[in-house]
Amino acid sequence: MAGVRWPPEDSDLFPSRPPPAATEMVSDDDRSVAADSWSIKSDYGSTLDDEQRHADAAEILSVSTFPAASDSSSDKEDSDANEAEPSILGLQSYWDATYAEDLVNFHEHGHAGEIWFGVEVMDVVASWTKNLCTNMVGGGNLANGSSNKSESKDKACGDLSKWSVLDIGTGNGLLLQELAKQGFSDLTGIDYSEKAINLARNLAERDGFSSIKFLVDDVLGTKLDRKFQLIVDKGTFDAVGLHPDGPVKRMVYWEAVSNLVTACGLLVITSCNNTKDELLAEVDDFNKRIRSKNLVQYPGTEPTDVFQYLDHVCTYPTFVFGGVEGSHVSTVAFIRK
Ligand SMILES: C[S@@+](CC[C@H](N)C(=O)[O-])C[C@H]1O[C@@H](n2cnc3c(N)ncnc32)[C@H](O)[C@@H]1O
Repeated sequence: MAGVRWPPEDSDLFPSRPPPAATEMVSDDDRSVAADSWSIKSDYGSTLDDEQRHADAAEILSVSTFPAASDSSSDKEDSDANEAEPSILGLQSYWDATYAEDLVNFHEHGHAGEIWFGVEVMDVVASWTKNLCTNMVGGGNLANGSSNKSESKDKACGDLSKWSVLDIGTGNGLLLQELAKQGFSDLTGIDYSEKAINLARNLAERDGFSSIKFLVDDVLGTKLDRKFQLIVDKGTFDAVGLHPDGPVKRMVYWEAVSNLVTACGLLVITSCNNTKDELLAEVDDFNKRIRSKNLVQYPGTEPTDVFQYLDHVCTYPTFVFGGVEGSHVSTVAFIRK
């Protein structure tokens, strides 16, 4: 299930060639070859012709297997087998090289670079997240994590502009632009790649979203000293898990994100390397770890979960391959207790 890039304009599945395992990649030349082979067309620019992309897709489809979206128990049993192989997509050097190339393309041609999982998924994530937040506010389930009553009342007006939003691993920052179009206005994007932040700033400026804040920051060792009511992640947890130390990094990820989101705040995570059930299992493991840690540190206290499942997107297209039905992308929302 290693990282799948999905060009937006193709209605059918169109994964490009998977990169080599991280351990296989030894030189800058290798990296640029791998980066080239992963550089596929998006709505915002084309670097690979259609014929080549179709050849790549055919090659991938001939070797890929996908999890069944409908069968949660088999997901669970196969979770070890589904563990993503390390890949260069887990390395910062890969992203730095990718965004360096995207920046050149932006300056020369005005291209925005890759939209991960395609425009359709990005639009669904933005509008679904907006509805989720609106409904929470409407239902009086406030996501401000504040004990200040008047601030809570203010939030109850359903004003999305009051939600503080953090996009983890923002890349070109286009998801934040979409969230701005939906009515969110306190928007921050972080990425550990300086080139990504440079690109995101340039695009936001060009597209009239200069109030979005962008910051170079590694979420696994964040410099941020504030919390956010809504955290979104599209493809970053996938990248973190593809690092050679993926299992450890994923644990650090949950800890880091839990510290960045306010009490009663939301995490909306979109992944192509994890099914909904695998994401739920990850959170379950994290909750268990924290509960046992708390029991040792604060004996006698009531054990509580850190994240609780709230909802997921049910509308992504599914496909059948080799008799197995599945969806490439899952978006799941968790609430911070
Ligand atoms: C698959 S891309 C997704 C980019 C963007 N979210 C999107 O949907 O287009 C993964 C992104 O996560 C960033 N990233 C990976 N690990 C990170 C980390 N530890 N801290 C911050 N950013 C990270 C990468 O630089 C890259 O921009």
